[in-house]
Amino acid sequence: MTGGRGTPGPGGVLARVRAATAATHRRLDAGLDPAGRTWDVDVHRRWLSLTWGLLAPLERALAGWAAADPTALDVAARARADLALADLRVLGTDAADLAELRECPGTPLPVTRAAALGTCYVLDGSTLGGRLITRAAVAAGVPAGACTSLTGRPGGGRRWRATTAALGAVGEEDAEEVVAAAVATFAAHERWLSPLAVRSG
Ligand code: HEM
Repeated sequence: MTGGRGTPGPGGVLARVRAATAATHRRLDAGLDPAGRTWDVDVHRRWLSLTWGLLAPLERALAGWAAADPTALDVAARARADLALADLRVLGTDAADLAELRECPGTPLPVTRAAALGTCYVLDGSTLGGRLITRAAVAAGVPAGACTSLTGRPGGGRRWRATTAALGAVGEEDAEEVVAAAVATFAAHERWLSPLAVRSG
């Protein structure tokens, strides 16, 4: 489900990005169905491996943006690919298996500020749903210490407010690019996470 908190007036960039991605989010949520299935260690290990494959290239691109834009969001604090590897290690995945992890090919990589903000919307927003997945995983016996990448480093609420504030400050001229990046990043998630879906959403 998508929340409506902090939604600006109709036509604001945040409202537009939400509206443009809501259907894909609903399909992902229904397809992955963390509350309705048993989210056991095996499912969780596959989730971590697949999400690492999305996070690693996207976070490299966001780091490139931050290096070039002094007003960029704090992408180092938002990084979770490293946490996904740590989570996998907690589940006993060894270095040889970690070296075999595959990155999602063709993920749209943000270069401009507008595209980076659209990407941050998706990645930071996914930590909100990550709380629900963590709850389902822990209930099914996954150690909490293997769930750190779902919600990220402490301060997620503050980061989400900073992300939505930055989106709210985007000018009309960049709105379409923000929306396009968020839609493309959601599409990459839907495609790459589809092996984990219990049903098509
Ligand atoms: C696996 C199933 C998922 C569930 C059950 C789920 C659930 C949720 C929930 C409950 C929220 C609202 C949280 C709040 O307002 O406090 C949320 C927000 C969000 N989720 Fe998910 N989510 C899931 C997967 C994903 C994935 C894979 C992505 C990324 C592609 C994603 C992207 C987002 C975004 C961008 C938001 C923010 C929406 C907004 O307020 O604008 N979610 N999710």
